Amino acid sequence: MVRPVVLDVDTGVDDAMALLLAARHPALDLRAVTCVGGNASVDDVVSNTALVLHTCGRPDIPVARGAERPLLEPPQEARHVHGRDGMADLGWVRPDVPPDPRHAVELLRDLLREAAARDPSQRITLLPLGPLTNIALLMRTWPDAAAGLAEIVFMGGAAQTGNATASAEFNVWHDPEAAAIVLESAAELGVPVRMYGLDVFYDVRVGLDRARELVAVGGRGPVELAGRLLEFSCARFQAADATIGDAGAVCAVIDPEGLSTRRLPVRVELTGTWSRGRTVVDRRDWAGDLSHDPHGVAPAVVEVALEVDGGRYADLWLSTVAGEHRVAEQ
Ligand code: RIB
Ligand code: CA
Repeated sequence: MVRPVVLDVDTGVDDAMALLLAARHPALDLRAVTCVGGNASVDDVVSNTALVLHTCGRPDIPVARGAERPLLEPPQEARHVHGRDGMADLGWVRPDVPPDPRHAVELLRDLLREAAARDPSQRITLLPLGPLTNIALLMRTWPDAAAGLAEIVFMGGAAQTGNATASAEFNVWHDPEAAAIVLESAAELGVPVRMYGLDVFYDVRVGLDRARELVAVGGRGPVELAGRLLEFSCARFQAADATIGDAGAVCAVIDPEGLSTRRLPVRVELTGTWSRGRTVVDRRDWAGDLSHDPHGVAPAVVEVALEVDGGRYADLWLSTVAGEHRVAEQ
């Protein structure tokens, strides 16, 4: 079965790795990509996203510009991680194509309503890989569109650790209110949610030697791009390998068996002196007496990824971006 998917991205080095996989894997039908400010400004995100899709030979996929900033706070970019242009400063030729005329949230609404009107196999799996601003706006503005969703698989949060702060993962930290709205709305609207967070994010890795082999393919195609993104990440973190990052969440849709998840209640910390933006994942044993807990159980119960078969997902990503599924394009 070919699964219809939409990626919501803040491209972003590892969002680019996710786009390379989603645009090239035959089990996925990438219907659109919506953009949100996060790692870089939303205009750079749109440009970076178009660059990746163009390089993949997929300029047909609509790209829409979405929220410039979080719901409450000013944007806080991560160019120190992703480069001045937000995507590794590769000097790649940028296609001169305008984005879809609709706002990202309107494009999502249209696609989801259309999917809801068709048979259930056409419901869309939505992969938010950046701050959840667009998705929160969608769910609050047009909750009926949720009927077109099969599932939300988002990169964000963590049960154990943070990266933007000691407590919080970047995507949730960047717009905590949006993340809280999405979890709450999904619970209300009956949309299943899987959380691909930092507990697994760093465990799917590709070595620098393999990255160099991809770069050596040359030709400024998707294979070379994949290699250059990995090389950039290795250099940035002075490591002999790099995570494929957000691309792991795409792997989770293609190959759910590679991931161990548990259904757990999740809340987003919206205040907290040191913990704003943390996902509070409730792993307590509910057999005990919890009547003293003033908060009760979180209404949002999420499939939280706790372990991943990193080698399996790295192979899936590599074999797809290296063209084993679509050899004719190489
Ligand atoms: O925190 C991980 C997130 O930050 C990912 O979505 C990735 O894009 C990185 O910048
Ligand atoms: Ca991202």
